[in-house]
Amino acid sequence: MDDQNEFAKAKERFERFGQGHVFQFWDTLDEGEKSNLLEQAGEIDLAELEGLVSSLVKSEGAHSETDYDALKPAPYEPLPNDIETDPRWQEAKAAGESALRAGRVAAFTVAGGQGTRLGYDGPKGTFPISPIQNKTLFQLFAEKVKAARVRYDCDIPWYIMTSQANHEATERFFRENDFFGLGASRVSFFRQGRMPAVDFDGKILLESKGSIAMSPDGHGGALRALERSGALSEMESRGIDLLSYFQVDNPHVQVVDPYFIGFHVLSGSSMSSKMLPKAYEKEKLGHFCIAGDHLEVVEYSDMPDELTALRDDSGKLTFIAGSVAIHTVSVGFIRELTSEGSSLSLPFHKAVKKIAHVDSEGTGVKPGEPNGVKFELFVFDALPFAGRPTIVETTRLGDFSPVKNAEGVDSEASCRADQQRLFADWLADVGVNVDRDADGVPVVPVEISPLFGYSLESFRESWGKGSRELDLSRPVYIE
Ligand code: UD1
Repeated sequence: MDDQNEFAKAKERFERFGQGHVFQFWDTLDEGEKSNLLEQAGEIDLAELEGLVSSLVKSEGAHSETDYDALKPAPYEPLPNDIETDPRWQEAKAAGESALRAGRVAAFTVAGGQGTRLGYDGPKGTFPISPIQNKTLFQLFAEKVKAARVRYDCDIPWYIMTSQANHEATERFFRENDFFGLGASRVSFFRQGRMPAVDFDGKILLESKGSIAMSPDGHGGALRALERSGALSEMESRGIDLLSYFQVDNPHVQVVDPYFIGFHVLSGSSMSSKMLPKAYEKEKLGHFCIAGDHLEVVEYSDMPDELTALRDDSGKLTFIAGSVAIHTVSVGFIRELTSEGSSLSLPFHKAVKKIAHVDSEGTGVKPGEPNGVKFELFVFDALPFAGRPTIVETTRLGDFSPVKNAEGVDSEASCRADQQRLFADWLADVGVNVDRDADGVPVVPVEISPLFGYSLESFRESWGKGSRELDLSRPVYIE
């Protein structure tokens, strides 16, 4: 179909939904702009958008339907006193290792976010974060995947979800780094979907005369993007039925954890999640809650203050289980959620934002106040549909210290310090005590390559294989 023909059809479709203004500058556009606009228009499901405008923009709906008075804290599998002798945890570990050895597990990173809070220009995964070597987030994950492949003698493919904005730069980065030795065919990239932004009357905003203001559809878009990109079918044909899901902002994540995968398998769960006891009331973690007959995550920004602050008689937070955005998801469950005609659709959330746009005269506007709404899907909204969702406690340093902000909490500085606290703990475990400051951070920098150890157990194994003399007066890098 030529552009003119396609244009006539698209225009008619958009006019039918009261969005014909999207094409108001058509005659002034050059050929490139025209085909870009048609491509964007083709991605928009106008019936879906109309529904969202009526439920989320013109009235309050969808995710705010939670009955907060009836919320209960979700149960979880607590860490035992001694993981090495605890029969349940050891049984889980054996089940997880066996799934890994059988090649049933793929790693999956959501890396489509824009990293606005960090103020870093470029895909977040290319951000340097390790304490001495300045390895990037992507390199650290790659080395963990590589180390786990060796440890379990298996092939762990790695899927990475990008966005329209960072896809090419992400792929280029991997090519330039020779896929960190993982093999080009074993690292796959696919783009997440986009959603148009609308003003408070539900009209689609134009970013320029020839371009719609589109933004990534949230990490929950991963599920449909896995299906649409063919990644799901590829996994099915490779015999992969378990996805180890994590966020690009968290270099501490173990990437594949046999204990966690094992609990998922043994409980017959279709989606499982790791939890941490919240460090303080206002920590920005989603809360695992029971609402009626199902499990759900109530985002920190949605949780009423009274519930966030609620404590039991011993002073412990009632809604203590925080989501660290690490999940094991069964491939069959994703297939079920995304199959044609499935009634299990995730709800969209709205984010009220300042959205730069052009007005009806074609003049650029940079609003000082919020002027519109973006729509996002959250992956944890799949939990209410999951069979036997299981929540498993983890250790903070062992799995979580994200890089989200330029300074302060969850920043580059806090993450670099946390990595070194963890490495110092591992060294102490094998009898090497490094000097630490009052905050527990080693005085002389320490870094352990994931290829040497990416968890206490894998570190101990490597350490036990040979004797090492460390000069603790100089930065220590163990590889
Ligand atoms: C998120 C979770 C929160 C959890 C916390 C743990 C949400 C809404 N909240 O908070 O419950 O406790 O992490 O760190 O997710 N991403 C995409 N595409 C998108 C949007 C995001 O791939 O369209 C990816 C980002 O690249 C990142 C991750 O999702 O890897 C998290 O996104 P972000 O918006 O930063 O979530 P948080 O508010 O930090």
